[in-house]
Amino acid sequence: MNVGILGAGPFGLALAARLARHRVDVRVTTRDVAKAAERARGYPALAEVPELITDMATVLGESDLLVLALPYPVALRLSQRFPAFAAGRSLVDVTNPLLLRDRGDPFAAGDGCLGIARALPYTRIAKAFNTFTAARMDTDASDVAPYATDDDSVADTIEDLARRIGLRPVRIGPLAYASHLESAALVHQLTSGALS
Ligand SMILES: NC(=O)c1ccc[n+]([C@@H]2O[C@H](COP(=O)([O-])OP(=O)(O)OC[C@H]3O[C@@H](n4cnc5c(N)ncnc54)[C@H](OP(=O)(O)O)[C@@H]3O)[C@@H](O)[C@H]2O)c1
Repeated sequence: MNVGILGAGPFGLALAARLARHRVDVRVTTRDVAKAAERARGYPALAEVPELITDMATVLGESDLLVLALPYPVALRLSQRFPAFAAGRSLVDVTNPLLLRDRGDPFAAGDGCLGIARALPYTRIAKAFNTFTAARMDTDASDVAPYATDDDSVADTIEDLARRIGLRPVRIGPLAYASHLESAALVHQLTSGALS
């Protein structure tokens, strides 16, 4: 399986590092490839991945599974402006729209994953992995990985991928349940002090 991650922030790179440690093929793309490559040097597992950070066209062309690891408003705007970018593809949304660091009202984030799904009617979408912090994702702990989707084929892909990287996937329900995962991440962050 080839995984293509859109976004080279702490979460995108932590996920890439975990995938690399478990020998899953991974590529990452973002707007500033040079800056991202520099940041990736902080992850020993990524040093062994040739051409890890690459352009969007390569990631879109070569990945079986796309991961949206951009700030939620950026991911939503991308989906609304370029609805064809993931047409016919499987995509995992890891965004946490309630957790914007510069948020005013955390509940003003709109429809979260469902907003992205509405913008991408021809994409098989799952909400997954958003309940992990980047630091936790960059471990090999065998945590439960709850996910939500309407699509059985993307569910199979998530099950396979999660197990390959040492997680225990649990399908909690349809994509409408993505909002529960987004709320769970907010509660976790608020109670763990990760936002302070
Ligand atoms: N960090 C966590 O613990 C965590 C946990 C679970 C889920 N998430 C979710 O995962 C997603 C990624 O989070 P993150 O922590 O990795 O960092 P992030 O700051 O949300 O995203 C970083 C990536 O987004 C790019 N980006 C930022 N603003 C952009 C813009 N206006 N246009 C195009 N690209 C832009 C950055 O590019 P540059 O490098 O060029 O700025 C970088 O590649 C978020 O939705 C977050 O809610 C994060």
